[in-house]
Amino acid sequence: MAKASKSNFVCANCGNVTTKWSGRCEACGEWNSIQEEAPLGTGPASKTIGAARGRRVTLSDLAAEEAPPPRTSSGIAEFDRVLGGGLVPASAILVGGDPGIGKSTLLLQAAAAFAAEGLKVVYISGEEASAQIRMRAQRLGLGAAPVMLGAETNLRDILTTLEAEKPDLAIIDSVQTMWADHVESAPGSVSQVRAAAHELTAFAKRRNTAVILVGHVTKEGQIAGPRVVEHMVDTVLYFEGERGHQFRILRAVKNRFGPADEIGVFEMTGGGLSEVPNPSALFLSERGQPAPGSVVFAGIEGTRPVLCEFQALVAPTPLAQPRRTTVGWDGGRLAMILAVLEARCGIPFAGLDVYLNVAGGMKISEPAADLAVAAALLSAREDAGLPPETVVFGEISLSGALRPVSQTENRLKEAQKLGFSAAIAPEGGKAVDPSGLKLNRMSDLAAFVGDVFGAG
Ligand code: TYD
Ligand code: MG
Repeated sequence: MAKASKSNFVCANCGNVTTKWSGRCEACGEWNSIQEEAPLGTGPASKTIGAARGRRVTLSDLAAEEAPPPRTSSGIAEFDRVLGGGLVPASAILVGGDPGIGKSTLLLQAAAAFAAEGLKVVYISGEEASAQIRMRAQRLGLGAAPVMLGAETNLRDILTTLEAEKPDLAIIDSVQTMWADHVESAPGSVSQVRAAAHELTAFAKRRNTAVILVGHVTKEGQIAGPRVVEHMVDTVLYFEGERGHQFRILRAVKNRFGPADEIGVFEMTGGGLSEVPNPSALFLSERGQPAPGSVVFAGIEGTRPVLCEFQALVAPTPLAQPRRTTVGWDGGRLAMILAVLEARCGIPFAGLDVYLNVAGGMKISEPAADLAVAAALLSAREDAGLPPETVVFGEISLSGALRPVSQTENRLKEAQKLGFSAAIAPEGGKAVDPSGLKLNRMSDLAAFVGDVFGAG
Protein backbone atom coordinates (compact mmCIF):
# COMPACT_ATOMS: atom_id res chain seq x y z
CA MET A 1 0.00 0.00 0.00
CA ALA A 2 1.17 3.49 -0.75
CA LYS A 3 2.30 5.36 2.31
CA ALA A 4 0.08 8.24 3.33
CA SER A 5 1.39 11.81 3.26
CA LYS A 6 4.29 12.44 5.58
CA SER A 7 3.09 15.65 7.14
CA ASN A 8 3.56 16.28 10.80
CA PHE A 9 1.19 17.82 13.26
CA VAL A 10 2.73 20.44 15.50
CA CYS A 11 1.29 22.13 18.57
CA ALA A 12 1.49 25.89 18.16
CA ASN A 13 1.64 26.35 21.90
CA CYS A 14 4.43 24.01 22.98
CA GLY A 15 5.86 22.69 19.73
CA ASN A 16 5.07 19.03 20.43
CA VAL A 17 5.12 16.98 17.20
CA THR A 18 2.65 14.14 16.58
CA THR A 19 1.77 12.03 13.58
CA LYS A 20 -1.96 12.58 13.76
CA TRP A 21 -4.24 15.52 14.37
CA SER A 22 -6.17 15.80 17.58
CA GLY A 23 -8.33 18.46 19.16
CA ARG A 24 -6.14 18.76 22.23
CA CYS A 25 -2.38 18.69 22.55
CA GLU A 26 -1.25 15.67 24.58
CA ALA A 27 1.82 17.48 25.80
CA CYS A 28 0.51 20.80 27.07
CA GLY A 29 -3.25 20.23 27.15
CA GLU A 30 -4.02 23.23 24.93
CA TRP A 31 -7.19 22.92 22.82
CA ASN A 32 -7.27 23.56 19.08
CA SER A 33 -3.57 24.26 18.83
CA ILE A 34 -2.51 21.41 16.52
CA GLN A 35 -1.59 22.47 13.00
CA GLU A 36 -0.58 20.42 10.02
CA GLU A 37 2.93 21.17 8.83
CA ALA A 38 4.67 19.98 5.73
CA PRO A 39 8.01 18.38 6.63
CA LEU A 40 10.85 20.87 6.37
CA GLY A 41 12.89 18.78 3.97
CA THR A 42 13.71 15.13 3.72
CA GLY A 43 17.45 15.65 3.92
CA PRO A 44 20.06 13.88 1.86
CA ALA A 45 18.91 10.94 -0.22
CA SER A 46 21.47 8.34 0.85
CA LYS A 47 20.74 6.48 4.06
CA THR A 48 24.13 6.87 5.69
CA ILE A 49 26.93 9.38 5.31
CA GLY A 50 29.01 6.49 3.99
CA ALA A 51 32.61 6.63 2.97
CA ALA A 52 32.71 10.19 1.66
CA ARG A 53 34.62 12.01 4.33
CA GLY A 54 33.91 15.47 5.64
CA ARG A 55 36.29 18.14 6.85
CA ARG A 56 38.15 17.49 10.09
CA VAL A 57 36.81 19.61 12.90
CA THR A 58 39.34 21.34 15.12
CA LEU A 59 38.99 20.00 18.64
CA SER A 60 40.25 21.99 21.54
CA ASP A 61 41.14 21.28 25.13
CA LEU A 62 38.59 22.01 27.81
CA ALA A 63 41.35 23.59 29.87
CA ALA A 64 42.18 26.13 27.16
CA GLU A 65 42.02 29.70 28.41
CA GLU A 66 38.91 31.50 27.32
CA ALA A 67 38.38 35.11 28.24
CA PRO A 68 34.89 35.81 29.63
CA PRO A 69 32.64 37.34 26.98
CA PRO A 70 32.98 41.10 26.76
CA ARG A 71 29.66 42.43 27.93
CA THR A 72 28.05 45.75 27.22
CA SER A 73 25.91 47.29 29.91
CA SER A 74 22.90 49.28 28.80
CA GLY A 75 22.93 51.36 31.96
CA ILE A 76 19.41 50.09 32.70
CA ALA A 77 20.51 48.12 35.75
CA GLU A 78 17.38 45.98 35.99
CA PHE A 79 17.78 44.91 32.35
CA ASP A 80 21.52 44.26 32.59
CA ARG A 81 21.13 42.09 35.68
CA VAL A 82 18.56 39.85 33.97
CA LEU A 83 20.93 39.44 31.02
CA GLY A 84 23.56 38.21 33.49
CA GLY A 85 25.54 41.45 33.65
CA GLY A 86 25.12 42.97 30.22
CA LEU A 87 24.72 42.06 26.59
CA VAL A 88 27.01 39.32 25.22
CA PRO A 89 28.05 39.69 21.55
CA ALA A 90 26.73 37.03 19.14
CA SER A 91 24.06 35.94 21.61
CA ALA A 92 20.45 35.27 20.67
CA ILE A 93 17.90 36.47 23.20
CA LEU A 94 14.18 35.79 23.20
CA VAL A 95 11.90 38.24 25.02
CA GLY A 96 8.43 36.76 25.42
CA GLY A 97 5.31 38.25 26.94
CA ASP A 98 1.62 38.92 26.50
CA PRO A 99 0.65 41.41 23.79
CA GLY A 100 0.51 44.91 25.24
CA ILE A 101 2.64 44.14 28.28
CA GLY A 102 5.38 46.56 27.14
CA LYS A 103 7.92 44.49 25.20
CA SER A 104 8.31 47.02 22.40
CA THR A 105 8.59 49.84 24.92
CA LEU A 106 11.26 48.02 26.93
CA LEU A 107 13.29 47.09 23.86
CA LEU A 108 13.10 50.55 22.36
CA GLN A 109 14.43 51.94 25.64
CA ALA A 110 17.12 49.26 25.72
CA ALA A 111 18.00 49.97 22.07
CA ALA A 112 18.48 53.64 22.85
CA ALA A 113 20.52 52.81 25.95
CA PHE A 114 22.84 50.43 24.07
CA ALA A 115 23.20 52.96 21.25
CA ALA A 116 24.19 55.56 23.83
CA GLU A 117 26.90 53.13 25.00
CA GLY A 118 28.30 53.13 21.48
CA LEU A 119 26.77 49.98 19.99
CA LYS A 120 25.37 50.09 16.49
CA VAL A 121 21.72 49.15 16.97
CA VAL A 122 19.12 48.23 14.36
CA TYR A 123 15.47 47.91 15.38
CA ILE A 124 13.28 46.04 12.89
CA SER A 125 9.56 46.10 13.50
CA GLY A 126 7.15 43.85 11.65
CA GLU A 127 4.20 45.29 13.52
CA GLU A 128 4.52 49.03 13.50
CA ALA A 129 5.51 51.57 10.86
CA SER A 130 8.73 53.49 11.42
CA ALA A 131 6.67 56.65 11.99
CA GLN A 132 4.83 54.95 14.86
CA ILE A 133 8.07 53.85 16.45
CA ARG A 134 9.48 57.35 16.09
CA MET A 135 6.41 58.78 17.81
CA ARG A 136 6.83 56.32 20.65
CA ALA A 137 10.52 57.19 20.92
CA GLN A 138 9.62 60.87 21.18
CA ARG A 139 7.10 60.10 23.90
CA LEU A 140 9.81 58.20 25.76
CA GLY A 141 12.20 61.12 25.35
CA LEU A 142 14.48 59.09 23.11
CA GLY A 143 13.88 61.01 19.89
CA ALA A 144 17.56 61.78 19.42
CA ALA A 145 18.89 58.26 20.07
CA PRO A 146 21.05 56.93 17.19
CA VAL A 147 18.96 53.79 16.64
CA MET A 148 18.31 52.72 13.05
CA LEU A 149 14.70 51.74 12.40
CA GLY A 150 13.24 49.46 9.79
CA ALA A 151 9.70 48.26 9.17
CA GLU A 152 9.86 44.93 7.39
CA THR A 153 8.60 41.37 7.65
CA ASN A 154 10.48 39.64 4.84
CA LEU A 155 13.24 37.66 6.50
CA ARG A 156 15.44 37.53 3.39
CA ASP A 157 15.37 41.33 3.07
CA ILE A 158 16.06 41.75 6.77
CA LEU A 159 19.05 39.39 6.67
CA THR A 160 20.43 41.12 3.59
CA THR A 161 20.11 44.48 5.35
CA LEU A 162 21.75 43.19 8.51
CA GLU A 163 24.60 41.59 6.52
CA ALA A 164 25.25 44.96 4.91
CA GLU A 165 24.86 47.09 8.04
CA LYS A 166 26.75 44.74 10.41
CA PRO A 167 25.13 46.07 13.59
CA ASP A 168 26.25 45.06 17.09
CA LEU A 169 22.66 44.53 18.14
CA ALA A 170 19.59 43.75 16.04
CA ILE A 171 16.13 43.77 17.62
CA ILE A 172 13.40 41.89 15.76
CA ASP A 173 9.88 42.83 16.88
CA SER A 174 8.28 40.29 16.61
CA VAL A 175 9.47 36.90 15.41
CA GLN A 176 5.85 35.89 14.72
CA THR A 177 5.43 38.56 12.06
CA MET A 178 8.58 37.48 10.21
CA TRP A 179 8.10 35.54 7.06
CA ALA A 180 10.66 33.34 5.30
CA ASP A 181 10.01 32.73 1.61
CA HIS A 182 11.64 29.29 1.63
CA VAL A 183 9.06 27.89 4.02
CA GLU A 184 5.65 27.12 2.66
CA SER A 185 3.30 28.01 5.44
CA ALA A 186 1.54 31.08 6.73
CA PRO A 187 3.40 33.72 8.79
CA GLY A 188 2.99 32.97 12.47
CA SER A 189 2.86 29.19 11.96
CA VAL A 190 5.26 26.97 13.86
CA SER A 191 7.47 26.33 10.80
CA GLN A 192 7.70 30.01 9.92
CA VAL A 193 8.51 31.12 13.45
CA ARG A 194 11.09 28.36 13.83
CA ALA A 195 12.67 29.17 10.45
CA ALA A 196 12.88 32.88 11.30
CA ALA A 197 14.39 32.17 14.71
CA HIS A 198 16.82 29.68 13.21
CA GLU A 199 18.02 32.07 10.48
CA LEU A 200 18.39 34.99 12.88
CA THR A 201 20.22 32.92 15.51
CA ALA A 202 22.56 31.57 12.85
CA PHE A 203 23.13 35.13 11.68
CA ALA A 204 23.97 36.18 15.24
CA LYS A 205 26.66 33.50 15.53
CA ARG A 206 28.01 34.07 12.02
CA ARG A 207 28.31 37.85 12.14
CA ASN A 208 28.94 38.38 15.87
CA THR A 209 25.75 40.39 16.22
CA ALA A 210 23.58 40.11 19.30
CA VAL A 211 19.98 39.46 18.25
CA ILE A 212 16.94 40.07 20.41
CA LEU A 213 13.74 38.37 19.24
CA VAL A 214 10.37 39.50 20.56
CA GLY A 215 7.77 36.76 20.90
CA HIS A 216 4.12 37.25 21.79
CA VAL A 217 2.61 34.75 24.14
CA THR A 218 -0.55 33.72 22.33
CA LYS A 219 -3.77 32.52 23.84
CA GLU A 220 -5.29 30.89 20.78
CA GLY A 221 -3.47 28.20 18.84
CA GLN A 222 -3.36 29.86 15.42
CA ILE A 223 -0.08 31.66 16.09
CA ALA A 224 2.96 29.84 17.38
CA GLY A 225 4.08 30.99 20.81
CA PRO A 226 7.64 31.83 21.90
CA ARG A 227 8.01 28.44 23.54
CA VAL A 228 8.56 26.78 20.17
CA VAL A 229 11.89 28.60 19.76
CA GLU A 230 13.13 28.60 23.36
CA HIS A 231 15.59 25.79 22.66
CA MET A 232 17.28 27.66 19.81
CA VAL A 233 18.31 30.79 21.65
CA ASP A 234 20.92 31.43 24.35
CA THR A 235 18.73 33.41 26.68
CA VAL A 236 15.00 33.39 27.30
CA LEU A 237 13.40 36.29 29.13
CA TYR A 238 9.73 36.69 29.91
CA PHE A 239 8.15 40.04 30.54
CA GLU A 240 5.21 39.59 32.84
CA GLY A 241 2.77 41.60 34.85
CA GLU A 242 -0.91 41.85 35.62
CA ARG A 243 -3.22 44.11 33.66
CA GLY A 244 -4.25 46.91 35.96
CA HIS A 245 -0.96 46.80 37.83
CA GLN A 246 1.92 49.11 37.02
CA PHE A 247 4.61 46.56 37.86
CA ARG A 248 6.33 44.62 35.14
CA ILE A 249 8.77 41.84 35.85
CA LEU A 250 11.43 40.74 33.40
CA ARG A 251 12.36 37.19 34.32
CA ALA A 252 15.23 35.09 32.96
CA VAL A 253 14.07 31.49 32.55
CA LYS A 254 17.14 30.33 30.61
CA ASN A 255 20.50 32.00 30.30
CA ARG A 256 23.66 30.47 28.86
CA PHE A 257 25.62 33.51 30.03
CA GLY A 258 24.32 34.10 33.53
CA PRO A 259 22.08 32.87 36.30
CA ALA A 260 18.52 31.93 35.37
CA ASP A 261 15.67 32.99 37.70
CA GLU A 262 17.03 36.52 37.88
CA ILE A 263 14.37 39.21 37.77
CA GLY A 264 14.28 42.88 36.86
CA VAL A 265 11.41 44.99 38.12
CA PHE A 266 9.96 47.91 36.19
CA GLU A 267 7.05 50.24 36.52
CA MET A 268 5.02 51.34 33.47
CA THR A 269 4.60 55.08 33.57
CA GLY A 270 3.38 57.68 31.11
CA GLY A 271 6.98 58.13 30.01
CA GLY A 272 7.78 54.47 29.46
CA LEU A 273 9.22 51.87 31.81
CA SER A 274 11.14 53.06 34.82
CA GLU A 275 13.36 50.89 36.95
CA VAL A 276 12.37 49.77 40.42
CA PRO A 277 15.61 49.33 42.33
CA ASN A 278 13.86 48.30 45.56
CA PRO A 279 11.03 45.93 44.62
CA SER A 280 10.26 44.89 48.20
CA ALA A 281 9.15 48.40 49.07
CA LEU A 282 6.99 48.45 45.97
CA PHE A 283 5.32 45.09 46.56
CA LEU A 284 4.54 45.97 50.14
CA SER A 285 3.50 49.55 49.42
CA GLU A 286 -0.16 48.64 48.97
CA ARG A 287 -0.26 46.87 52.30
CA GLY A 288 -2.62 48.47 54.76
CA GLN A 289 -3.13 47.37 58.34
CA PRO A 290 -2.09 43.75 58.84
CA ALA A 291 -5.27 41.74 58.25
CA PRO A 292 -6.09 38.08 58.82
CA GLY A 293 -4.94 36.08 55.81
CA SER A 294 -2.08 38.42 54.99
CA VAL A 295 1.50 37.22 55.43
CA VAL A 296 4.76 38.75 54.27
CA PHE A 297 7.14 36.28 52.65
CA ALA A 298 10.88 36.94 52.54
CA GLY A 299 11.81 35.48 49.18
CA ILE A 300 14.84 35.34 46.92
CA GLU A 301 14.54 36.09 43.22
CA GLY A 302 17.75 35.22 41.45
CA THR A 303 20.47 36.92 43.43
CA ARG A 304 18.23 39.39 45.17
CA PRO A 305 15.96 39.21 48.21
CA VAL A 306 12.40 40.34 47.53
CA LEU A 307 9.63 40.64 50.09
CA CYS A 308 6.06 40.18 48.99
CA GLU A 309 2.68 39.61 50.51
CA PHE A 310 0.55 36.46 50.35
CA GLN A 311 -3.17 37.01 50.85
CA ALA A 312 -5.59 34.20 51.56
CA LEU A 313 -9.34 34.06 51.90
CA VAL A 314 -11.09 31.01 53.31
CA ALA A 315 -14.90 30.87 53.23
CA PRO A 316 -17.59 28.20 53.61
CA THR A 317 -18.73 26.86 50.26
CA PRO A 318 -22.08 25.67 48.98
CA LEU A 319 -20.26 23.56 46.38
CA ALA A 320 -19.67 19.84 46.71
CA GLN A 321 -16.17 20.40 45.40
CA PRO A 322 -14.76 23.51 47.10
CA ARG A 323 -12.94 26.10 45.04
CA ARG A 324 -9.15 26.33 45.11
CA THR A 325 -8.06 29.49 43.29
CA THR A 326 -4.52 30.83 43.15
CA VAL A 327 -2.99 33.89 41.52
CA GLY A 328 0.81 34.02 41.40
CA TRP A 329 1.31 30.63 43.08
CA ASP A 330 1.12 27.05 41.81
CA GLY A 331 -2.24 25.36 42.33
CA GLY A 332 -0.67 21.93 42.81
CA ARG A 333 1.58 23.25 45.55
CA LEU A 334 -1.45 24.81 47.29
CA ALA A 335 -3.19 21.43 47.25
CA MET A 336 -0.10 19.84 48.79
CA ILE A 337 0.05 22.37 51.61
CA LEU A 338 -3.68 21.94 52.33
CA ALA A 339 -3.14 18.18 52.48
CA VAL A 340 -0.20 18.51 54.88
CA LEU A 341 -2.20 20.88 57.12
CA GLU A 342 -5.01 18.36 57.24
CA ALA A 343 -2.91 15.20 57.64
CA ARG A 344 -0.16 16.45 59.97
CA CYS A 345 -1.89 19.20 61.94
CA GLY A 346 -5.51 17.99 61.83
CA ILE A 347 -6.80 21.20 60.28
CA PRO A 348 -9.34 20.33 57.57
CA PHE A 349 -10.22 22.61 54.68
CA ALA A 350 -13.07 20.42 53.39
CA GLY A 351 -16.21 22.45 52.84
CA LEU A 352 -14.19 25.64 52.55
CA ASP A 353 -13.35 27.64 49.44
CA VAL A 354 -9.71 28.76 49.38
CA TYR A 355 -8.40 31.76 47.46
CA LEU A 356 -4.70 32.58 47.49
CA ASN A 357 -3.15 35.62 45.88
CA VAL A 358 0.31 37.16 45.70
CA ALA A 359 -0.14 40.92 45.97
CA GLY A 360 1.07 43.24 43.23
CA GLY A 361 0.97 40.76 40.35
CA MET A 362 4.13 38.97 41.46
CA LYS A 363 4.58 35.28 40.65
CA ILE A 364 6.31 33.13 43.26
CA SER A 365 7.63 29.65 42.50
CA GLU A 366 10.10 29.22 45.34
CA PRO A 367 9.28 26.26 47.65
CA ALA A 368 10.60 28.48 50.45
CA ALA A 369 7.22 30.23 50.33
CA ASP A 370 5.39 27.10 51.56
CA LEU A 371 5.37 28.26 55.15
CA ALA A 372 4.12 31.73 54.20
CA VAL A 373 1.29 30.09 52.22
CA ALA A 374 0.41 27.83 55.13
CA ALA A 375 0.52 30.81 57.49
CA ALA A 376 -1.79 32.85 55.23
CA LEU A 377 -4.24 29.93 54.97
CA LEU A 378 -4.29 29.36 58.72
CA SER A 379 -4.56 33.04 59.47
CA ALA A 380 -7.54 33.35 57.11
CA ARG A 381 -9.19 30.20 58.42
CA GLU A 382 -8.79 31.16 62.08
CA ASP A 383 -9.50 34.84 61.34
CA ALA A 384 -6.43 35.72 63.37
CA GLY A 385 -3.56 37.88 62.20
CA LEU A 386 0.07 36.86 62.50
CA PRO A 387 2.24 38.74 64.99
CA PRO A 388 2.79 42.19 63.46
CA GLU A 389 5.98 43.09 61.56
CA THR A 390 6.87 39.44 60.98
CA VAL A 391 8.20 37.82 57.84
CA VAL A 392 7.85 34.08 57.19
CA PHE A 393 9.74 31.59 55.05
CA GLY A 394 10.47 27.86 54.95
CA GLU A 395 9.81 24.81 52.84
CA ILE A 396 7.24 22.25 54.04
CA SER A 397 7.86 18.57 53.43
CA LEU A 398 5.07 16.00 53.15
CA SER A 399 5.88 14.79 56.66
CA GLY A 400 5.05 18.23 57.99
CA ALA A 401 8.69 19.00 58.80
CA LEU A 402 10.08 22.41 57.94
CA ARG A 403 13.15 22.32 55.74
CA PRO A 404 15.81 25.00 55.86
CA VAL A 405 16.09 27.16 52.77
CA SER A 406 18.96 28.95 51.06
CA GLN A 407 20.17 32.48 51.76
CA THR A 408 18.50 32.84 55.16
CA GLU A 409 20.80 35.69 56.04
CA ASN A 410 19.93 37.72 52.93
CA ARG A 411 16.23 37.24 53.59
CA LEU A 412 16.60 38.48 57.15
CA LYS A 413 18.68 41.48 56.13
CA GLU A 414 16.10 42.57 53.59
CA ALA A 415 13.31 42.17 56.13
CA GLN A 416 15.19 44.27 58.63
CA LYS A 417 15.91 46.90 56.00
CA LEU A 418 12.18 47.24 55.36
CA GLY A 419 11.36 47.70 59.02
CA PHE A 420 10.29 44.20 60.06
CA SER A 421 11.17 43.17 63.59
CA ALA A 422 10.65 39.40 63.62
CA ALA A 423 10.99 36.38 61.38
CA ILE A 424 9.66 32.82 61.47
CA ALA A 425 12.01 30.36 59.79
CA PRO A 426 12.84 26.63 59.79
CA GLU A 427 15.34 25.10 62.17
CA GLY A 428 18.64 23.78 60.91
CA GLY A 429 20.78 24.99 58.07
CA LYS A 430 23.62 27.43 58.58
CA ALA A 431 23.80 29.45 61.75
CA VAL A 432 22.96 33.05 60.98
CA ASP A 433 23.20 36.36 62.68
CA PRO A 434 19.60 37.54 62.93
CA SER A 435 20.93 41.11 62.72
CA GLY A 436 18.50 42.75 65.10
CA LEU A 437 15.48 40.63 64.17
CA LYS A 438 13.67 38.40 66.62
CA LEU A 439 14.23 35.07 64.91
CA ASN A 440 11.80 32.27 65.74
CA ARG A 441 13.01 28.92 64.39
CA MET A 442 10.65 25.96 64.18
CA SER A 443 11.14 22.30 63.35
CA ASP A 444 7.73 21.41 61.95
CA LEU A 445 4.39 22.74 60.87
CA ALA A 446 2.54 21.45 63.93
CA ALA A 447 4.91 23.45 66.17
CA PHE A 448 4.25 26.51 64.03
CA VAL A 449 0.48 26.07 64.33
CA GLY A 450 0.70 25.60 68.08
CA ASP A 451 3.04 28.53 68.57
CA VAL A 452 1.38 31.09 66.34
CA PHE A 453 -2.30 30.15 66.45
CA GLY A 454 -2.59 28.54 69.88
CA ALA A 455 -3.37 24.86 69.78
CA GLY A 456 -4.81 25.28 66.24
P1 TYD B 1 3.99 47.85 24.05
O1 TYD B 1 5.41 48.08 24.33
O2 TYD B 1 3.46 48.27 22.73
O3 TYD B 1 3.58 46.33 24.28
P2 TYD B 1 4.01 45.02 23.46
O4 TYD B 1 5.07 45.38 22.52
O5 TYD B 1 4.43 44.06 24.54
O6 TYD B 1 2.78 44.53 22.79
O7 TYD B 1 3.19 48.55 25.23
C1 TYD B 1 1.90 48.90 25.07
C2 TYD B 1 1.28 49.37 26.37
O8 TYD B 1 2.13 50.17 27.17
C3 TYD B 1 0.10 50.22 25.99
O9 TYD B 1 -1.03 49.67 26.61
C4 TYD B 1 0.43 51.58 26.47
C5 TYD B 1 1.48 51.37 27.50
N1 TYD B 1 2.45 52.47 27.55
C6 TYD B 1 2.53 53.30 28.64
O10 TYD B 1 1.76 53.17 29.59
N2 TYD B 1 3.48 54.29 28.68
C7 TYD B 1 4.35 54.49 27.65
O11 TYD B 1 5.19 55.40 27.74
C8 TYD B 1 4.26 53.62 26.52
C9 TYD B 1 5.19 53.80 25.36
C10 TYD B 1 3.31 52.63 26.51
MG1 MG C 1 4.97 45.46 20.44
